[in-house]
Amino acid sequence: PTISIKDNVVEASLPSGESVTVQLYGATVTSWKCNGQEQLFLSQKAHLDGSKPIRGGIPLVFPVRSIPPAVLAKHHNAHADADADDIQVFGPPPPNHATSSLPQHGFARNSNWEFLGKSASESAETAGKAKADLAVKLDFGLSHSMLTEESRKSWPFEFGLVYSVTLTKDTLETSLQVRNEGKQNFEFQVLMHTYFDIQDISNVRVKNLESKIYADKTRNGSSHTETSAALAITEETDRVYKELDPAVPIIISSAKDDDKPLFSITREGLTDVVVWNPWIEKAKGMADFGPDEAYQNMLCVEAGAVSGWQTLEAGEAWEGGQSIKSRL
Ligand code: BG6
Repeated sequence: PTISIKDNVVEASLPSGESVTVQLYGATVTSWKCNGQEQLFLSQKAHLDGSKPIRGGIPLVFPVRSIPPAVLAKHHNAHADADADDIQVFGPPPPNHATSSLPQHGFARNSNWEFLGKSASESAETAGKAKADLAVKLDFGLSHSMLTEESRKSWPFEFGLVYSVTLTKDTLETSLQVRNEGKQNFEFQVLMHTYFDIQDISNVRVKNLESKIYADKTRNGSSHTETSAALAITEETDRVYKELDPAVPIIISSAKDDDKPLFSITREGLTDVVVWNPWIEKAKGMADFGPDEAYQNMLCVEAGAVSGWQTLEAGEAWEGGQSIKSRL
């Protein structure tokens, strides 16, 4: 594989032509090309200068996901409100939780990571084959001492992250190792906020969510059960599906082409999946989203652990990740 590092951007490609681009800012994957085609959506108005989290690609969310104000407000009132079940589904932190002063979606996506180099891939895809030409694995690191003073104050835990991005002929794997290097336990959430490049949202279906419980952020985080075997996206969609079996792939398919699978996403250690499309009004409302109509060309299917908290004891490590197979 060829690897280049220029202006805080790491690019790797395989002899067969596949490539991946990762910005050290956020360790954000901004491009994944396979079969000559871009697989990830990147907003034309995305900031690539480190001034704002990148709108597109795969921003990494850690140590906390967004808490919608409506849900937080409900949580504040929860003591007075006996019927607070739907709040538990979403799992917001108590107002005094260690993460409550962090920015939306935490600090990982807007911190400057370091490139740790490439390492031997242990991808199942390449096991037993001549590895070197079939896969490339890039490792990125972030630790407490690398954070801005503001983030260090907001989340005062000694942690170490290693984020690995592995490219093979038709898969992209992203996995995160979280280490607690301090003396106190901490709690965290993780989300791999993947923006898939989609030709036409009206043709897309999302499968293997049927009968799963989800919290619907467009309806105040209320809890529902998915009834559709092939979910169509026809309006603003912002849902957290819970308690999924990580080994069962989430399939994004094209209803136009006989339900042809476009992507399949399996996970490890990540039992939640967020499905998000801002639709027209919200797309217009985001300064870094463009063009406005591009909501038709993207879908976020985000593998995560966000409906509750992972507790990491002093000295312990946690690992989770996703493997995306492209069928394009
Ligand atoms: C999704 C959330 O994960 O991310 C949405 O479910 C949110 O509610 C979206 O709007 C984008 O978030 P941000 O912080 O990148 O604008």
